Amino acid sequence: MKGVILAGGLGSRLYPLTHATNKHLLPVYDRPMIYYPIQTLVNAGIHEVIVVTGGPHAGHFLGVLKNGRELGITHLEYAYQETEGGIAQALALCEDFADGESIAVILGDNTMDADIGPAVRSFSSGARLFLQKVLDPERFGVPVFNKDGHIISIEEKPAQPKSSYAVTGLYIYDNKVFEYVRQCKPSHRGELEITDVNNLYIESGQLDWVELKGFWSDAGTFESLYKTNRFWAEKSLGEGKRE
Ligand code: DAU
Repeated sequence: MKGVILAGGLGSRLYPLTHATNKHLLPVYDRPMIYYPIQTLVNAGIHEVIVVTGGPHAGHFLGVLKNGRELGITHLEYAYQETEGGIAQALALCEDFADGESIAVILGDNTMDADIGPAVRSFSSGARLFLQKVLDPERFGVPVFNKDGHIISIEEKPAQPKSSYAVTGLYIYDNKVFEYVRQCKPSHRGELEITDVNNLYIESGQLDWVELKGFWSDAGTFESLYKTNRFWAEKSLGEGKRE
């Protein structure tokens, strides 16, 4: 399996910080934000990675990640997303890189401390989502379940969520994902939505889900960036890695 990190967008919710650099290079305790999703992939045995980025600071990634060797990546590619056309549009840029293989996709502002290795190794085809219970599901993609616990649809940022789960920014897809992205139309916010891609997998009966254990948070707002920083600082200090 290959790895995809989506790190495009302007990060406008974090202005003025993101006037200085790309959101995914901002510090999360003692390292740039993007180190965390990379580590999640590498720890799961995924060493071929593409980073999709965009915006005015895209060049900063090269200086930070270089060829990825220091982080355990054996093959690192970059792609440039010319407009902020959505997560699914960013994903579409990875078709040649995937080259027919399955992919584990992580949004570059999502950090987690779970071991995703078992879910990666047991994946065969379709799509696999990682869900976590949250207090504020209206901020996320939210699954709607039937009484057997199967997801029957996903609603993007619903005003009245039908469950208390969030669809986290970690997804495993087989190669059909690129066909499904081509079927998507821009949403009311003008983006190709990853939720629409996931709904196409649901319609074809090829989507399953697992609960994501441990810590997970996005870091796209000041509140969530602070929460994420605090978690990783306390974890690191608690493990005695830093004074
Ligand atoms: O964090 C999980 C949530 O991420 C999911 O629950 C939602 O279903 C999903 O739509 C997404 O919601 P957000 O509104 O929080 O996504 P946001 O626009 O903040 O983008 C998250 C990351 O995706 C961002 O850090 C970089 C990447 N991205 C985003 C856009 C809009 C791109 O690479 N290109 C883009 O055009």
